[in-house]
Amino acid sequence: MDRTLVICKPDAVERGLVGQIVDRIERKGLKIAAAELRTIDKETAGRHYAEHDGKPFYDELVTFITRSPALVMVVEGPGDTFKVLRTLIGATNPKEAAPGTIRGDLAIETGENLVHGSDSPESAEREIGIFFPNL
Ligand code: RTP
Ligand code: MG
Repeated sequence: MDRTLVICKPDAVERGLVGQIVDRIERKGLKIAAAELRTIDKETAGRHYAEHDGKPFYDELVTFITRSPALVMVVEGPGDTFKVLRTLIGATNPKEAAPGTIRGDLAIETGENLVHGSDSPESAEREIGIFFPNL
């Protein structure tokens, strides 16, 4: 099975949208292989979002992702799983995300865009190693 990392971000848990998001992932035919509700600490957030260190939105991003519990998941599929997830999730800016996508239907601000999905197979394995080192 081909796997990727998905996070229902703090805004998704706060707004009570985790069930709908997991439902969309499962209805697509993907499988939740691991899941943990956890408050991400600053150090872990820094590792996860290392590629964005130094960008203007970095501090805001780390503050956001650490502010309350997030549902961190490993999702499995028959192939190109990261890509399937990114398509389900929609564009980074929810104002531009297509209707039918999670961000397109349920979010409006880039800083509160509900879901993270790894952006490549290499990112997926790196990120799974950060959050689920025993898998
Ligand atoms: P994610 O990593 O969270 O799945 O989102 P993504 O791939 O669609 O977007 P990415 O470029 O990796 O950016 C990570 C998160 O940083 C925030 N962001 N803000 N103000 C801005 O221009 C800006 N750009 C990115 C978003 O919350 C984005 O999800
Ligand atoms: Mg990203």
